[in-house]
Parts: sequence; structure tokens; C-alpha cells
Amino acid sequence: MKKQLTFLAVTTSILFMAPLLSASQECGEMLKEKCTSCHYNTRVCEKVGEKNRRSWKNTTKRMIRYGLKISNEEINEVTDCLVSLEDNPEIFCDK
Ligand code: HEC
Repeated sequence: MKKQLTFLAVTTSILFMAPLLSASQECGEMLKEKCTSCHYNTRVCEKVGEKNRRSWKNTTKRMIRYGLKISNEEINEVTDCLVSLEDNPEIFCDK
């Protein structure tokens, strides 16, 4: 009985964690796709913790002037991802 309960607990937590994990992985993939064609990720990563949501959004919009291809919806997603780097730098940054 105890074994079954442990099994149940482990399975449920995996089921709950999986979407969270893949969401942050997608987030990292998106940043890799959008933000590393002109400069290294270090350009972005050295600013993690320094920029708040608004300045990340402004930065992203400034990148459009340099040629970044991104939809309005994606701007918000990318901004969310950039803000989340403060807690999860490993999804995009090398350290
Ligand atoms: C089309 C080319 C291009 C793409 C794509 C691009 N950048 Fe940039 N980025 C630049 C150039 C050019 C500079 C240097 C000029 C400057 O600082 O404004 C720069 C500088 C930066 C800087 C340092 C200056 C600052 O504001 O702190 C950050 C941070 C940055 N980019 C973030 C991003 C992010 C985040 C993305 C993805 C959403 C991205 N970049 C995508 C061209 C690009």
C-alpha cells in the first residue's frame, strides 16, 4: 500500500511538473531562435537581473529596428521569457 501511494505521488508530481518544464524549455528555445542570430546570448544574459519587464519589452522592440522578426503576440511571450530568466537562467544562459 505504501509503495502504491509513493508511486501515485511520484506520478502525479511528474504529470504536474511536465507542462511547467516544457513551457520553460519552449521559452528558452524561443529566445535562442529570436535573440541569438545577431549577437551571442551573453549580450542578453549579462542584463539578467538588471532589466525589469518594461525595459525588456523596450529592448525587444528596439531589436525590431535592427531587423528582428517578431509578431506582437510574440513580443509579449519573449518579454515573459526574458523576465523569467532571473529565476531560471539555465533555460537560455550558459551558467
Ligand atoms: C536583427 C539583429 C538582432 C536581433 C535578432 C536581436 N538583437 Fe539584440 N542587439 C542587436 C544590436 C545591433 C545590438 C547593439 C546595439 C544596441 O545596444 O542597441 C543589440 C544589443 C542588445 C542588448 C544590449 C543592449 C541593451 O539594451 O542592454 C541586449 C540586452 C539585446 N540586444 C537583447 C536582445 C534580445 C532579448 C533579443 C531577442 C528578443 C535580441 N537582442 C535580438 C541586434 C539584434
